[in-house]
Amino acid sequence: MNEQPIIRFEKVTKQYQGDAAVLRDVSFTIERGRFYTLLGPSGCGKTTILRLIAGFTEPTSGNIYFNGRVINHIPANKRQVNTVFQDYALFPHLNVFENIAFGLRIKKLKRADIEAKVKEALRFVNLTGYESREIKEMSGGQRQRVAIARAIVNEPEIILLDEPLSALDLKLRTEMQYELRELQQRLGITFIFVTHDQEEALAMSDEIFVLSEGIIQQSGTPTDIYDEPINRFVADFIGESNIVAGKMTQDFLVEFGGRTFECVDRGLHPNEPIEIVIRPEDLEITAVQQGKLQVQVETQLFRGVHYEILCSDETGNKWLVHSTKKVVVGEAIGLTFETEAIHVMRFGESEEDFDRRLEAYS
Ligand SMILES: Nc1ncnc2c1ncn2[C@@H]1O[C@H](COP(=O)(O)OP(=O)(O)O)[C@@H](O)[C@H]1O
Ligand SMILES: [Mg+2]
Repeated sequence: MNEQPIIRFEKVTKQYQGDAAVLRDVSFTIERGRFYTLLGPSGCGKTTILRLIAGFTEPTSGNIYFNGRVINHIPANKRQVNTVFQDYALFPHLNVFENIAFGLRIKKLKRADIEAKVKEALRFVNLTGYESREIKEMSGGQRQRVAIARAIVNEPEIILLDEPLSALDLKLRTEMQYELRELQQRLGITFIFVTHDQEEALAMSDEIFVLSEGIIQQSGTPTDIYDEPINRFVADFIGESNIVAGKMTQDFLVEFGGRTFECVDRGLHPNEPIEIVIRPEDLEITAVQQGKLQVQVETQLFRGVHYEILCSDETGNKWLVHSTKKVVVGEAIGLTFETEAIHVMRFGESEEDFDRRLEAYS
């Protein structure tokens, strides 16, 4: 068993001719057998990372390692990587069997081996019996599964999936999220999945890399990223959050909304300006005087599971609350929260410094 990470990026920069860098000094490690997601808004460099891993383009500087060896100049067809593209890129004139068999025929496998492998791949994606169907007779979800079968039939070490679910409607997309996750666990192959949908990333991944403008803003498990966003971009991009300006008066004491609160953060400069995050579901509605904050209700929307209530405090901060309690617009209410619900973010803190600061607490 190879102990090296399957993929490692070391200060990888990618610049297309004459343009600004699309990726800047990107470093990360991919361990084998896990489900990774690259998450970020359109244009942040997700597809570029996949193309670099697949070998469709080379880095401008930095190194890409596969099982410990630099692969910067190794061509795509020599890499044990297969890609599932957003538009599936299936051959419309070939049937399901021939689409999946295509790569194996190029490798000149024996007819019986091809047949066995294609059958096995179809079984994996629940399409047994669909061998002779034409692509145009398949639904969106089925085409998706053919594209995945075509990738797994080559037994790659890594499967790259570039927004493969974005063309599907919501219900089918949710189904395919379960299917893909389950398939990855059954196969044990490393998946690197790209999406701009944060809920999809949270639901599917072992680890998420949050990207913005060619930089990895934060990496970690879904709960790490949701509970401890490193900066405003991540807090805002992942889930809904209340982000409010404040000041760290001293260790374990933070000031915002005109009050001082206990918190779990320390190691910042006295009176350092910071931003705090509290998730809407971590705010609880109380009677005015019982609240840690007194706020005025501005709007209320019923969302099926909960009410979405927007309030403002006396310093003008807006607070979004998710609650099963109904309130009255225009009235004053109290808001309370656990000490742990306050998450302090430093301005301009790097991911390394952030991790070091968190480790110092424990
Ligand atoms: N071949 C190319 N030549 C020049 N610019 C490119 C090329 N491919 C991508 N880009 C630019 O690189 C940036 C990142 O693109 P991409 O990696 O496709 O982002 P994402 O997949 O996150 O939407 C975009 O600004 C895009 O216009
Ligand atoms: Mg893309």
